[in-house]
Amino acid sequence: MDYVVIIPAAGQGKRMNAGKNKQFLMLEGAPLIIHTLRVFEMDEWCSGIILVGNKNELSDLKEAVNDYQIEKVLKVVPGGEERQHSVYEGLKVVDQSSRVLIHDGARPFVSIDSIHKLVIAAHDSGAAVLGVPIKDTVKHIEQKKVVKTVDRNSLWAVQTPQAFHLSLILSAHLKAAEQGYLGTDDASLIEHAGSEVTIVEGDYLNIKLTTKEDLLFAKAILRERKEHHNN
Ligand code: CTP
Ligand code: MG
Repeated sequence: MDYVVIIPAAGQGKRMNAGKNKQFLMLEGAPLIIHTLRVFEMDEWCSGIILVGNKNELSDLKEAVNDYQIEKVLKVVPGGEERQHSVYEGLKVVDQSSRVLIHDGARPFVSIDSIHKLVIAAHDSGAAVLGVPIKDTVKHIEQKKVVKTVDRNSLWAVQTPQAFHLSLILSAHLKAAEQGYLGTDDASLIEHAGSEVTIVEGDYLNIKLTTKEDLLFAKAILRERKEHHNN
């Protein structure tokens, strides 16, 4: 079940407010992006990594990949204005796999177990995403008043990786570009094109590091793993 993974890391990290792209924030001795890359470096099913970065950060990314001895990176390519554009730049250079995963550079805690469940689901159906049932009560709000409470039973928070047959996601991206459609994840482009997407239950540890609070959680996870490793 070999796959190539595209890792978009070409954002600005504005909501993290760290004064630089959050991918380069140091966490327990390594930059965030390296923690993410290590998962795929470890996964035997992963045959190669395509890393997408800001044009002016490509050399920093390559340097980090070398310094931390990540060996599966095939290419480091420049991204685009929005995440969707960055992913498309990555998709264009995939050449040796029919199965592709897309995974946020800012999501370092995905488990190999979840990745494998996802890859198997996408193999069967063409498109699959990881997600978890939401825990919060969600209300629809207009002008600071509750319009209604949404039924939580049918709501899931969707994560990455998202896994696809290469031809399916490429044509969905092409179609979206032609129509000027912008989605917040890759699966939405498949949905927009009228195809089905399967959801695979992941776990709540697979957070995206988006705001400062997320760093507290990230550091706690990393420390616990380190203690576990030392005991
Ligand atoms: N990303 C990208 N190209 C963009 C925008 C985002 O490759 N033009 C990447 C980010 O680097 C990140 C992932 O997509 O790994 C998820 O995006 P997000 O968490 O929103 O990161 P940022 O866009 O960097 O953060 P913010 O939206 O707060 O500026
Ligand atoms: Mg963003």
